[in-house]
Amino acid sequence: MDRLSGGTRHTAVIEETLKRRSGGILLAYVTSTAPPFASGPFGNTPLPRGWHGIGGVMHQWEHGAGDDLFPPNHLRHDMTFQVDGKVVLITGANRGIGRVILNEAIARGAAKVYTAVRRLESVDELVQQHGDRVVPVALDLSKPETIEAAADTASDVDLVVNNAGVLKNATPLADDVVDCWLYESNINVVGLMRMAKAFAPVLKANGGGAFVQLNSVASMQSFTDFCTYAASKAASYLYTQALRDELSQQETAVVSVHPGPIDTDMAHDAGLQDMTEPPQVVADAIFDALAEGRFHAFPDKMARQTAEAYGGYIDAVVGDASLPAKA
Ligand SMILES: NC(=O)c1ccc[n+]([C@@H]2O[C@H](COP(=O)([O-])OP(=O)(O)OC[C@H]3O[C@@H](n4cnc5c(N)ncnc54)[C@H](OP(=O)(O)O)[C@@H]3O)[C@@H](O)[C@H]2O)c1
Repeated sequence: MDRLSGGTRHTAVIEETLKRRSGGILLAYVTSTAPPFASGPFGNTPLPRGWHGIGGVMHQWEHGAGDDLFPPNHLRHDMTFQVDGKVVLITGANRGIGRVILNEAIARGAAKVYTAVRRLESVDELVQQHGDRVVPVALDLSKPETIEAAADTASDVDLVVNNAGVLKNATPLADDVVDCWLYESNINVVGLMRMAKAFAPVLKANGGGAFVQLNSVASMQSFTDFCTYAASKAASYLYTQALRDELSQQETAVVSVHPGPIDTDMAHDAGLQDMTEPPQVVADAIFDALAEGRFHAFPDKMARQTAEAYGGYIDAVVGDASLPAKA
């Protein structure tokens, strides 16, 4: 690696990260607060914010602001979260994966779980089962006012799990492909944005906490029979990456969950019932990723195969500080 100067306490992190991420191409991250100057291929000019490849060229960072030379936030190693004793909110907690996440949160010692659902009566059984540790809240991801009202109600929340999502079967040239996309993206992508905007200030006020987003293996691979769903999960994954960086500034951990086919109504509707694994693997993967400070969670066999194939890309481009460094 070439030389870094600037004398910050983060230099060791940057050096370690550059070695691990670069794979032979030197990368440098430029902050927006006080642009460093690079000699060599760029001349002595300020660089735009972001990652820059500086392959094999001797370079130097000169930086007057010391600690302002800060590595990207997603390179932090200390964003772990334990659910024991915490307050949780889960969208779509009435059935499928969300219901199992709720049960696992309770089993791991969560003090209270807000079940954010469209129909309050759909969690009657869960309230009977868990008593006042389960608090139903009305929330529809397609209705912004319900999301804002839920954020007001759940003002003591430490962990938000945006689990609710929808899938339509639509091939690329289907008559209804645009309608399917508009419906799914409104809930799977815009709904996520609304959740993040409404709950980020609440999490910040409560000390940081964590935000978990249910993405999919379809975030990385499209499927002909539900291509608009895959496009929406790719969009939500990219948004989740940016959210991780932004929320790390307020000490909020973010986890992106990427299940393969899981045994719920959604997988059955998509015709995937013969290849499913139980929802419990997703719940376990979420709380393990939170406890270990990992950004990605790949819960099941198909997910792990995807992660294996995709791992080099994560390592070199997306970044997940907790993934083991390559030899
Ligand atoms: N199952 C899989 O194979 C699989 C794989 C990868 C990722 N995922 C993701 O995992 C998450 C959960 O999936 P699942 O399999 O549990 O799905 P599911 O069984 O179909 O359940 C969907 C949940 O989302 C809720 N929901 C739907 N539209 C909503 C809206 N507009 N506002 C609020 N809630 C809404 C549903 O509530 P209602 O009961 O009111 O309809 C239900 O609780 C989704 O984000 C999905 O994309 C699933």
